[in-house]
Amino acid sequence: MADLTINLAGIKAPNPFWLASAPPTNTGYQVQRAFEAGWGGAVWKTLGEPIINTSSRFAAVHFNGQRVAGFNNIELITDRPLEVNLKEIYETKKRFPNHAVVASLMVEPKREKWHEIVKRVEDVGVDGLELNFGCPHGMAERGMGAASGQQPDLVEKQTMWAKEAAKTPVIVKLTPNITDITVTARHAVMGGADAISMINTINSLAGVDIHSWNTIPHVGGKGAHGGYCGPAVKPIALNMVAECARHPEIGVPISGIGGISTWQDAVEFMLMGASGVQICTAAMHHGFRIVEEMIDGLNNYLDEKGIESVMELVGKSVQRYSNWGDLDLNYKVVARINTDTCINCNKCHIACEDTSHQCIDMLTGASGNYLEVREEDCVGCNLCSIVCPVDGAIEMVEIASDLNPMSWNDRQRTLARLNAGQTEMEVV
Ligand SMILES: Cc1cc2nc3c(=O)[nH]c(=O)nc-3n(C[C@H](O)[C@H](O)[C@H](O)COP(=O)(O)O)c2cc1C
Repeated sequence: MADLTINLAGIKAPNPFWLASAPPTNTGYQVQRAFEAGWGGAVWKTLGEPIINTSSRFAAVHFNGQRVAGFNNIELITDRPLEVNLKEIYETKKRFPNHAVVASLMVEPKREKWHEIVKRVEDVGVDGLELNFGCPHGMAERGMGAASGQQPDLVEKQTMWAKEAAKTPVIVKLTPNITDITVTARHAVMGGADAISMINTINSLAGVDIHSWNTIPHVGGKGAHGGYCGPAVKPIALNMVAECARHPEIGVPISGIGGISTWQDAVEFMLMGASGVQICTAAMHHGFRIVEEMIDGLNNYLDEKGIESVMELVGKSVQRYSNWGDLDLNYKVVARINTDTCINCNKCHIACEDTSHQCIDMLTGASGNYLEVREEDCVGCNLCSIVCPVDGAIEMVEIASDLNPMSWNDRQRTLARLNAGQTEMEVV
């Protein structure tokens, strides 16, 4: 069996599946049960100044039969006294010395506040700290969470203050509610972050009740924007992880978060540069036991691939993620319909005819109607294979080309050299 242990900036855990800072990590009782179930680590529900939470605070987006495709919340940080949390962290760490227990922290952007809380949580034996610069609601209105996470200089300064007092590794948790997450990630690194984690939740309103006209959720008839997470946000989170992983000036380990529900999702995040993952919504939806399937699935996958340690996956796909301008414009695929498995639902024809390039013909042969792609007109957009309800009935196949690979950037460089007076022979 492969080695599932991970090391994220010096924080070790028996496997890469950690619970993210959220309701599942609210108490020692929960975190200890999670460790018993198999989770490798937990980032404690964010500690900070006492707050009061609203009643009615979660909502979900159910899409086309799938419950909780997305999850929305207006919950704030922990509403339990710091002393109680510290006592339970101490007890948990004592019972599970080899599991990762990370304290998530959020305080006002003041040096002495950071020094004080870092010292207090380190005194009870945490393995690391996660600075929460991400929560988009409630705390942001008080200058914390996403409000400081959206200001790169504040991210840097606060990371520095936490680092001044910290003896354990500092992870900076970033908000996705920003134009370019690599900017805040770089400032976290400039402030001394040992690692970064992403994403926290995305600004959202889950819905409006079309009968009562109230927001979903609402608190006595009033709503406020919340944070979106769950399966729907995975592509956004994966891109942000990948952008940070491939950025030459970031270079610190990444803890991947956002929409992870299966071992396959975790593998994708690790291939794109995450050294481990954190999970919230999937645990809230299905309970702690989902980790068993994740561990089994990951073990089987690594064994099948002959990979000895899960850490070998980290970053293996990063070099395959590039800028659009570096993509080969001479690479070509076309759709091919397998008439043996096609059920003639015509969804591909309609999609192509109405919204793509009108290259799927409806033909009639000896054995009835069939669909065929006019390959010379197919641009290889994939839409037909996406809408096709039968796996494998439409295959996208590569068309061999005599042309050399040429990207937009290559083309611009060639044009610039021709404009500068070089001949075509010289340019080639
Ligand atoms: C109800 C709820 C409360 C959360 N509270 C916190 C929190 O206190 N601190 C924090 O850093 N993130 C918090 N999060 C964000 C999660 O840690 C995580 O970043 C986010 O949910 C994305 O992961 P997921 O798609 O697996 O849920 C919360 C999320 C939810 C759903």
